[in-house]
Amino acid sequence: MTATIAKGLEGVLFTESKLTFINGTEGILTHLGIPIQEWAEKSTFEELSFALLHGKLPTSEELAKFDAELRANREVPAELLRAIASYPKGAHPMQALRTAVSHLGLLDSQAEDTSAEGRYAIGVRMIAQFSTIIAAIARAQDGQDVVAPRADLTHAGNFLYMLKGHEPTPEEARLFDIALILHADHGMNASTFTAIATASTLSDMYSSITSAIGALKGPLHGGANEAVMDMLDEIGTVENAVSYITHKLDNKEKIMGVGHRVYKYFDPRSRVLREYAAFVSEKQGKSHYYQILETIEKEIVERLGGKGIYPNVDFYSGVVYSDLGIKKSYFTPIFGLARISGWVASVIEYTDNNRLLRPDAVYTGAKDQHYVEIAQR
Ligand code: ACO
Repeated sequence: MTATIAKGLEGVLFTESKLTFINGTEGILTHLGIPIQEWAEKSTFEELSFALLHGKLPTSEELAKFDAELRANREVPAELLRAIASYPKGAHPMQALRTAVSHLGLLDSQAEDTSAEGRYAIGVRMIAQFSTIIAAIARAQDGQDVVAPRADLTHAGNFLYMLKGHEPTPEEARLFDIALILHADHGMNASTFTAIATASTLSDMYSSITSAIGALKGPLHGGANEAVMDMLDEIGTVENAVSYITHKLDNKEKIMGVGHRVYKYFDPRSRVLREYAAFVSEKQGKSHYYQILETIEKEIVERLGGKGIYPNVDFYSGVVYSDLGIKKSYFTPIFGLARISGWVASVIEYTDNNRLLRPDAVYTGAKDQHYVEIAQR
């Protein structure tokens, strides 16, 4: 019998989930059945996080309670802040985030609580604390003092405040909130799957999230948003865009921010972000970054659309983040700042009906061998 290998686990179904639905051929994404466009237009990151964790839209009382819980949990231990300040200058922010989250677990006396209630409580704390940790890493790496969180600001507004040291405008806070909503969950992507794989051994929440950060870091996943900005800097001018794409494709190299394992049409998140990228570009008097992206998008759709390759969520996000004054090395940690909600919700959902994840490989190595003494090799 010949075994069939699902390379990259493509199409392999390993669990049920009520959180996120994706139709990749039509470019549809919903959370709890509600289209991502409606979440982006009408909701907040706090509300979407509640919905993912509880499987329903909150009442106003439930939302106020959940929001208050997030606000009350923003502080992180001083010991962790001291450790973050001691990380080597120039460290990759995702390495720093991975280390800090693992350290946070060391300092949490309840870290080993793997009951549903324990996972929930740690998860909510981590959603709140991720922003404090990421902002602290960014400031420490820049040699600046860490800014303490403020409980009177929204989740998005407080992050920008801690990162930049001054309060964002309501428009900036809302723009960032929308970016967080768009990245909060996305089915069984590599980092969520990694978080679940770790949790399936009945390991603790901090281990799951630390594993997920490692998976998100790679340029084929969360690292692509930073790679898109590198590509834009390399292209430099709108006039160079088409020849750059041609050169890359001729050399069978990948274009960052396009293509997706699931979407074979426009990623709906990229459509929402394109609108905001266009808005910030107009504000800046037509940014050359946006114009390069528009040119690449046209080229990619014409040349690779037939192969199902279209812009993904990472294509336009960098332009929006840059306008908010966020450095490109922090784009991937910010992806984590949003995806933490999806990771936590998915781990809780999976472990509610847990089974150890343990796939298999087709053995293609040698058979019927015997140990050869080292002197005889
Ligand atoms: N540029 C050019 N060609 C591409 C691209 C791309 N970005 N992506 C896929 N292709 C081509 C491949 O060369 C391959 O062509 P071939 O069949 O002629 O050899 C075909 O499409 C299939 O490519 P795979 O890499 O096998 O597809 P897979 O489903 O594994 O890839 C992935 C998905 C990793 C996202 C890929 O599209 C890619 O590398 N994109 C660039 C990185 C990126 O933007 N990642 C972010 C993804 S979204 C997210 O994680 C938030």
